[in-house]
Amino acid sequence: MVNSMVASQEIGLNESAALVMYLVAGVLFIFSLSGLSNQSTARRGNHLGIAGMLLALVATVFGLMQGGYGVTAIAITPAVLIGAVLARSVPMKGMPELVALLHSFVGLAAVLVGISSHLDPAINVPPGEQTIHEIEIFVGVFIGAITFTGSIVAFLKLKATISGNAWLIPGRHLVNLAALAICVCLGVWFCQVETSAAMVPLLLMTAIASLIGIHMVMAIGGADMPVVVSMLNSYSGWAASAAGFMLKNHLLIVTGALVGSSGAILSYIMCAAMNRSFVSVIMGGFGTGTSSSQTEIEGTVREISLDETVSTLEDAQSVVIVPGYGMAVAQAQHSLAEVVKTLRGQNKEVRFAIHPVAGRLPGHMNVLLAEANVPYDIVLEMDEINEDMSDTDAILVIGANDIVNPAALDDPNSPIAGMPVIEVWTAKTCIVMKRGMATGYAGVVNPLFYKENTWMLFGDAKENVDALLQKLKR
Ligand code: TAP
Repeated sequence: MVNSMVASQEIGLNESAALVMYLVAGVLFIFSLSGLSNQSTARRGNHLGIAGMLLALVATVFGLMQGGYGVTAIAITPAVLIGAVLARSVPMKGMPELVALLHSFVGLAAVLVGISSHLDPAINVPPGEQTIHEIEIFVGVFIGAITFTGSIVAFLKLKATISGNAWLIPGRHLVNLAALAICVCLGVWFCQVETSAAMVPLLLMTAIASLIGIHMVMAIGGADMPVVVSMLNSYSGWAASAAGFMLKNHLLIVTGALVGSSGAILSYIMCAAMNRSFVSVIMGGFGTGTSSSQTEIEGTVREISLDETVSTLEDAQSVVIVPGYGMAVAQAQHSLAEVVKTLRGQNKEVRFAIHPVAGRLPGHMNVLLAEANVPYDIVLEMDEINEDMSDTDAILVIGANDIVNPAALDDPNSPIAGMPVIEVWTAKTCIVMKRGMATGYAGVVNPLFYKENTWMLFGDAKENVDALLQKLKR
């Protein structure tokens, strides 16, 4: 009796300590997010997030669990090792796919937690709360399944294993609505039958929600993919939050809500950057229009040599660099940082113009430039610098394409019509560095390359920037 009282007191103490640690972890996550909102504090934000996660792990394992440490260690150790190796070895250009894959894990976890909570006989639901518990499970599994399959499709699209174009079936909105209506009916069935019989509607809904996830992401393509990435980020947060409700874990609820709402805000920012409404993007179908820019473009493509590029830069007083996905592929950021240093050493004004959807990940270019130690104060967002373009002597477009495509503004039939772009063609001289005449992610031909003040410096961005650096330093 005494022993059991002591034990229960110890458990009570452990639980209280765990809850305090959860609170601290939650605060650390909030500070982490706030740090991540600015490049100069991002590293600190990252460290705070890691500290919060470690604290949460210790609190859960040693504060809330009563046994089962061996099994937990067996489950966690390989996951930690695989995660550490993957995170260290994945090249920056593979980061978008990795992020999409990680979102899918959160979705899968929510599905598994939901099904196991439903089957777990040890879960004591207070009388009167049974229906709430069942709704939590049903909604959690629904969001989890959509997140899981949607993220897998996003992963395959970003990896270019499947085409990035929108895949549209006739009557797709009706199909989605019908699938949603069936899931609601299955939910009603699920709440009304015994545990074992309820597995049928639960699994049926999981299958239908998985198909909705696939269909929804398949229908979004081209330049609208950034919204998919941030939207799935948001869904993964809500899936985690739903898992938190099922497990009655407050920290998971809070953390999931933080990720869910920050992902939703990011989706909103992405939509604003592309001049789209969120609803129109998730309904799909953009990025498929046919455009006059796909057929006839007037003008000729003019090539420029390395020596001519060097003299253009030497003659320029103001230089703007527009990096894009090709810079990430070529890993040209370090050499580029050296070029910038050299030009600034010659008292030139050198700045970067960053488009919100440049690359394949929100903030992709900012991360690369920060990695190469480019000073933050010369890295400007599109809105901050676009109107200075016409006063700029020389613009270097490095591996960017869609984000500098004038068709977005000039051609109402273009698949990217209406998307704000960096207006590089208004500068005195624009030099585009890319390997050939290939289109960008949205698959749209770029009239910029045919404009009178545009010059093409063909070749791999890293090789060309390296060669440029050598010539500039001579
Ligand atoms: P893109 O339009 O994809 O253009 C990249 C260009 O880089 C290509 O045209 C390619 O032309 C060139 N390139 C590739 N490898 C290169 C290398 N080694 N050296 C030099 N050039 C190289 O990129 P962007 O302008 O950054 O636009 C981003 C696009 O991706 C937008 O359509 C956006 O909507 C979409 N997207 C963005 C995100 C996020 S969240 N940012 C996520 C998914 C999709 P060559 O092959 O001729 O060299």
